[in-house]
Amino acid sequence: MMKVLSERHEVLSVDETLRRMREKLAKVVPDAELPLKAELAHKINQLKLERSAVILGHNYMEPALYHFVTDFRGDSLELSRLSTETDADIIVFCGVQFMAETAKVLSPDKMVLLPSDKAGCSLASGIAVEDVRQLKRDYPGVPVVTYVNTYAEVKAESDYCCTSGNGKAVVQYLFDQGHKHVIFLPDEYLGRNTAKELGANFVLPGFLRGQRTEVGPERTIIGWRARCEVHELFNVEDVRNVRKQYPEVVVVAHPECSPEVIAESDVSGSTKQMIQAVQEMDAPKFLLLTECSMGDNIVSENPDKDMLRLCSFRCPHMNTITMEDTLEALEKLQYQIELPDDIIERARLPIDRMLEIH
Ligand code: 13P
Ligand code: SF4
Repeated sequence: MMKVLSERHEVLSVDETLRRMREKLAKVVPDAELPLKAELAHKINQLKLERSAVILGHNYMEPALYHFVTDFRGDSLELSRLSTETDADIIVFCGVQFMAETAKVLSPDKMVLLPSDKAGCSLASGIAVEDVRQLKRDYPGVPVVTYVNTYAEVKAESDYCCTSGNGKAVVQYLFDQGHKHVIFLPDEYLGRNTAKELGANFVLPGFLRGQRTEVGPERTIIGWRARCEVHELFNVEDVRNVRKQYPEVVVVAHPECSPEVIAESDVSGSTKQMIQAVQEMDAPKFLLLTECSMGDNIVSENPDKDMLRLCSFRCPHMNTITMEDTLEALEKLQYQIELPDDIIERARLPIDRMLEIH
């Protein structure tokens, strides 16, 4: 096991933290906010060392927390992998509930803390366990792939999990195994985008539970109607308007955007893949179609990149994770993720399979 905890650095003083924050965040955080953030970062970093905790941060976290408090940063797939590699006693997950639950399933003996009890996700709440059971009754023998943006009880009903980083690979793997049909839940747009990339059909079941849609013999993804409340806000008109103004712009979109928006974009991928695309491409301007904080985080790391954002699209769930909450989480050891043993046991296999497929 990789001993990630022991690789961590000493705790910086408040003054040194503030100096580095000013250097790194000048373009994205007003200077007046930095002294308080430096103080909070110092306290969090001290306490996490005392508590033997590690802080994992999703790419959507606000810049000061993302760069000065988290030990490891990444997309859902990377953070799931990292959560299995830490030797820390406590994992503080600066992300949303489904991410913290995944870490708990992978490390049931560790204490997993989510700094807010309001960090949900419109995709995760867009499907219930009974919906999955009904789909399995309607399409017997068809493998069920659930996006990692689901709660653990839904994962427990699934055969495979995937993230936006490896959804295509997971479905392709199942097609290669000889399956003609794959149930892909719950993000309609990710399902449609994946089907398009793989040249497969896409259908939705009827509106009412048990309303079965007939599926032909061709390769078909059977999807679901949930959507990301942030990414569904981007539209084709916005992208075209930006292109008119800046014809040289490179448009980088998350695959939770609609297929129409993805068709107008140059690159699409998970948050990690989006960051990589910006870092690796040499373009005069980039337009990011995703949660706004990620643009700030990229700019602070790559000050030479010119980033356009159609903001203010902040995820209301990710947004509930603040530095104040993170400090409180470590002080009070809240909010602890607790899952029934049988859910942990049954959700483990699809998550392990997700981690194996790239
Ligand atoms: P990633 O897995 O790409 O980080 O996405 C998670 C998410 O919630 C996107 O909205
Ligand atoms: Fe869920 Fe969308 Fe927020 Fe991601 S951005 S956590 S998919 S609501």
